[in-house]
Amino acid sequence: MDKGTPESVSAVAPAKINLVLRVGPPDASGYHPLTTVFQAVDIWDRVTVSSAHKDELTVVGAGDLSGVPLDYSNIVWRAVEALAERTGVRHPVGIQVEKNIPVAGGMAGGSADAAATLVAVNAHWDLGLDHQALREVARTLGSDVPFSLQGGLAIGTGRGDQLTPMTRTTPLHIVIVRSSGQLSTPEIYRRLDILREGRSWTLPRPDELGLAQLGHLGPRDVAHVAANDLGDAAVAAMPELAESLRAVTEAGALAALVSGSGPTIWGIARDRAHAEDITDRVVQKGYLAQATSATDRGTHLD
Ligand code: C5P
Repeated sequence: MDKGTPESVSAVAPAKINLVLRVGPPDASGYHPLTTVFQAVDIWDRVTVSSAHKDELTVVGAGDLSGVPLDYSNIVWRAVEALAERTGVRHPVGIQVEKNIPVAGGMAGGSADAAATLVAVNAHWDLGLDHQALREVARTLGSDVPFSLQGGLAIGTGRGDQLTPMTRTTPLHIVIVRSSGQLSTPEIYRRLDILREGRSWTLPRPDELGLAQLGHLGPRDVAHVAANDLGDAAVAAMPELAESLRAVTEAGALAALVSGSGPTIWGIARDRAHAEDITDRVVQKGYLAQATSATDRGTHLD
């Protein structure tokens, strides 16, 4: 690296929820085509990359980190290798991941870490890749990584990696309830296939669902449109989620849903004060909850 290279560079990437997650039957490769609406929310993982004599990964954070691998199977190293392959540049690097997004919680925490690594390493090694190039690399790392990079609000089709950005004109305040356990995404998709066995499914298109308007709807209308085809499969895998969903609704949320493949739950509030009130009520019942809101931002240097 040249003398102008900074000692360390940090990037932050947002968590996501799916306002709508409709799942079609699996294709020949076993992947399920999606019609989804991704929304970035104001919970961020931070990745700091530093010059080092050898590769090193540390993961810090207040939540349960037991599901985070510390070896080369961690998605941040796959992001580093994908950049190296694309550019021919590979330096040893120290990576610190500060986790605020629930681990294996259905909020794309791993994808956020991958996206933040792409942005931080691109800057640290002065690779000069533009957003389009980073998005191409992101796509090779996982279905949710392109969205984690882009953030904001977007319709996702294909595997969720074909994105149509949308504008948000109304605020969206929500409550996130963490679960103590973790769920595996492929396992939840498999369970969905089992739940649907013997029935035929077609995947609705975004225009059939009227999704283009979602960024302009008030919370009651969002609650009406919100849906998650993976919800029943997640509850089947972790039956106590039924109780968490009920607790969030009883606390006054306009709707409560599983986030992605779970087990995080999210609830829709009328406004910020309402989100805080719902949070207080579910915390009193012993849940780990926080109020947060939609963000227009995506992964960026910090
Ligand atoms: O792409 P990602 O790493 O997020 O997916 C993990 C696994 O989840 C896939 O290997 C696949 O089994 C399942 N999956 C799926 N359909 C999707 C996304 C994920 O079947 N649209």
